[in-house]
Amino acid sequence: MTDLHPDIERILISEEDIQKRVTELAAEIDRDYRNEDLVVLIGILKGAFIFTADLSRKMTVPHMVDFMSISSYGDQAVFDGAVRLIMDLRKPIIDQHVIVVEDIVDSGHTMNYLYQSLKGRNPASLKVCTLFKKERDSLEVPLDYVGFDLPDVWVVGYGLDYADTHRTLPYIAELKKEVYT
Ligand code: PRP
Repeated sequence: MTDLHPDIERILISEEDIQKRVTELAAEIDRDYRNEDLVVLIGILKGAFIFTADLSRKMTVPHMVDFMSISSYGDQAVFDGAVRLIMDLRKPIIDQHVIVVEDIVDSGHTMNYLYQSLKGRNPASLKVCTLFKKERDSLEVPLDYVGFDLPDVWVVGYGLDYADTHRTLPYIAELKKEVYT
């Protein structure tokens, strides 16, 4: 086994388990949308770019991919739930079957904002697919497809970052506490 980066405490979810779960989620989505002409996947940048690419390539129902970029306001330590739109979709989603694709739902603030914003654009349907989630009371929207539950530690890999590093690790790893405290 290769040595872990010194920032990494341990691997929580292996590359093999992630890929197996992404395949299962793609199959679930294929089954649920088998009667639709087109599905729109909306990947949320930056974190979801890897998951969106893998999920899309494993899906067989006709679909297109678009992206949005969202950022939290201010300092996470005093975060009040406000988020802002950095980059919007290329095309309207009115009357489209939309699936929001996230790497992680943590506090839920990003997804709460996104869901309301996208609902207001009158899609034919709106569902949420997240590969990872943490248990939080602040989440106000249903999660239709969930890959894994995660413990409340700082995780990196498979799109998730610490200060924009470690996103390209193929597995999910726990960051050492001394790195971020
Ligand atoms: C991460 C992640 C989600 C959001 C989830 O994005 O990709 O979009 O946080 O957190 P929440 O449920 O507490 O709102 P981040 O803001 O770190 O930006 P990034 O995807 O560009 O890394």
